Amino acid sequence: GIATKLESAGIYDLMGLAVMSPSDLADLAGVGQAVARKAIQAARGMMELGFSDGAEFDRKRKDIHYITTGSENFNELLGGKGLESKAITEAYGAFGSGKTQLGLTLAVNAQLPKDQGGANGKAVYIDTEGTFRPDRIRQMAEALGANSDKVLKNILVARAFNSDHQILLLDKITELIKEQEEPIKLVIIDSLTAHFRAEFAGRGQLADRQQRLNRYLHQLMKLAEQHNLVVFVTNQVMSNPAMMFGDPTTAIGGNIVGHASTFRIYLRRGKAGSRVAKLIDSPNLPDNEAQFYVTEAGVRDDA
Ligand code: GTP
Ligand code: MG
Repeated sequence: GIATKLESAGIYDLMGLAVMSPSDLADLAGVGQAVARKAIQAARGMMELGFSDGAEFDRKRKDIHYITTGSENFNELLGGKGLESKAITEAYGAFGSGKTQLGLTLAVNAQLPKDQGGANGKAVYIDTEGTFRPDRIRQMAEALGANSDKVLKNILVARAFNSDHQILLLDKITELIKEQEEPIKLVIIDSLTAHFRAEFAGRGQLADRQQRLNRYLHQLMKLAEQHNLVVFVTNQVMSNPAMMFGDPTTAIGGNIVGHASTFRIYLRRGKAGSRVAKLIDSPNLPDNEAQFYVTEAGVRDDA
């Protein structure tokens, strides 16, 4: 029936229904637009969505949690405690700049207790490039004195073979969140854009690519908000020959990804094996830089 169709589309609760658009719901459930609209309105009515006063808004902000990057400098750049839940944090940068290493570090740190900068939860890792490294996770876990088998078990990894598969896996995450006894607190997409870029390479396909990316990012944001998740995505750069000064690199997906990401970080190699993270266009934080290192133990302040 309709309930099964909704479930298979990743909609399990009132919130899932309330935030849908009538046309999406009509497509998914195979019902008319009018029926879909009524169902959504009913869900919204039950949830009392809409405006909330300042106190209510404050309460919703209160359950936001953070996951440490492993570097105090880097955490400071992001406001003090690391990556924030109910938000998308994007790291873009050249090959070897440390995007994947940061993702692996976060997958370990998510499992730390709250007083050590973690979220006491599991991580989901969507791997589009086959770069997930169990051995690296073990190294990082052992550096923290943790049981490396247990840490690895708490990271749910899926390889996404193309962009359609990558999109499908988002629904799977919703299922996983329902099934797990220990909560999932972090979702990593490494890389967000690689499949989209490869599959929609032609000039005439740019609009289509951007539209799909946009839709995907909105689904991700919805997931982050509904389940209070930290979402970390990585992105490649392309060289921008039109730019004459500074670092001539631009993130793939451009403004679409930029607008959907709450925090945007540009990573590059720094002096003497260091790395530099720069915050880009943040609405409420300064565009500062932070120096860090990728060490055996993961992301750290010092080499
Ligand atoms: P692409 O995915 O190719 O775009 O690059 P990326 O930004 O994901 O780079 P990644 O995070 O894979 O960074 C690779 C770099 O991390 C290597 O060049 C090393 O400098 C560093 N690194 C990787 N593993 C280790 C390790 O075990 N110890 C140390 N000290 N550094 C490491
Ligand atoms: Mg990588």
